[in-house]
Amino acid sequence: KPGLRVALLGCGTVGSEVARLMREQAADLEARIGVPLELAGIAVRRLDRRREGIDPALLTTDALSLVTRDDVDIVVEVIGGIEPARQLLLAAMKAGKAVVTANKALLAQDGETVFGAAREYGADLYYEAAVAGAIPLLRPLRESLVGDHVHRVLGIVNGTTNYILDQMDTHGAGFGEALEEAQELGYAEADPTADVEGFDAAAKAAILAQLAFHTHVTAADVHREGITEVTAADVAGARARGSVVKLLAICERVPGDDGDGGRGVSVRVYPAMIPRSHPLASVREAYNAVFVEARSAGSLMFYGAGAGGAPTASAVLGDLVAVARNRVIGSRGPVEVTYAELPVLPMGET
Ligand code: HSE
Repeated sequence: KPGLRVALLGCGTVGSEVARLMREQAADLEARIGVPLELAGIAVRRLDRRREGIDPALLTTDALSLVTRDDVDIVVEVIGGIEPARQLLLAAMKAGKAVVTANKALLAQDGETVFGAAREYGADLYYEAAVAGAIPLLRPLRESLVGDHVHRVLGIVNGTTNYILDQMDTHGAGFGEALEEAQELGYAEADPTADVEGFDAAAKAAILAQLAFHTHVTAADVHREGITEVTAADVAGARARGSVVKLLAICERVPGDDGDGGRGVSVRVYPAMIPRSHPLASVREAYNAVFVEARSAGSLMFYGAGAGGAPTASAVLGDLVAVARNRVIGSRGPVEVTYAELPVLPMGET
């Protein structure tokens, strides 16, 4: 049977794990899809680095040629950042490839362009790994809950800051020491400023708000405070009061006189004190947890590993199987359309 050929963009913490899982689980993946998945090439920045288990013949620094190659069916992007990722994804979709991306920065800053290209070229686009690592959260919002009316999405969506706050809370650890550990464990962004200043959580909140409320929200719209000003004394003070400090992401509709979703939406990220009896207080280490509140579904809780190579690779592999199956039957997944005219309201107005 002719296989489906995959171009992998990026071979860091997540990319190398995706390549390893594709190799080790090849038989299972083939059974689930119906045809084999083959790696056609891996785009990297440097060729001189040793990469365990990777055939050096697959490596290339010419990502643009790789994504448009005739023998490539699916492009998996785990480079992150805006460029060159955006240009590569657009070229891939234009060339008729299905796309899987973990790129939260791009979807949060310029989701409109990426979703627009998927619509224009009829491309299949999945991005579960962009928010909350292994936790299935975007697919439920895009598919399972798309017939409902979501009021609020609230939770912990950054593993690095949760790890830091948890270490400060339980061991009295210093900020710097805990951050280093989170980096060693593969949780942190390449530039951990994105984690500790709340940019990573804000990008995820923007993506969640877009999907939940079907309206345009970009990372720049999100009110954002990070955890760099949270001191050991703050954490100890919270503890003395039976509370814990957590970095929360909150996306909610702000009702107007007409009821639900009238005036707009509020999207914010900031460290908050929450009582120890609250379920979010028991989210430890780099775990994430997100509540989704919807009119008919009621309150749903999603919990699991939100960062790290293997959990993020799990989400990427799930998407890879989904687009491969779609390809086999000549179909495609959901197409994002933002149609609601809900302005993102500034903090003071909510
Ligand atoms: N740096 C991110 C985090 C990785 O700590 O949650 C997952 O997006």
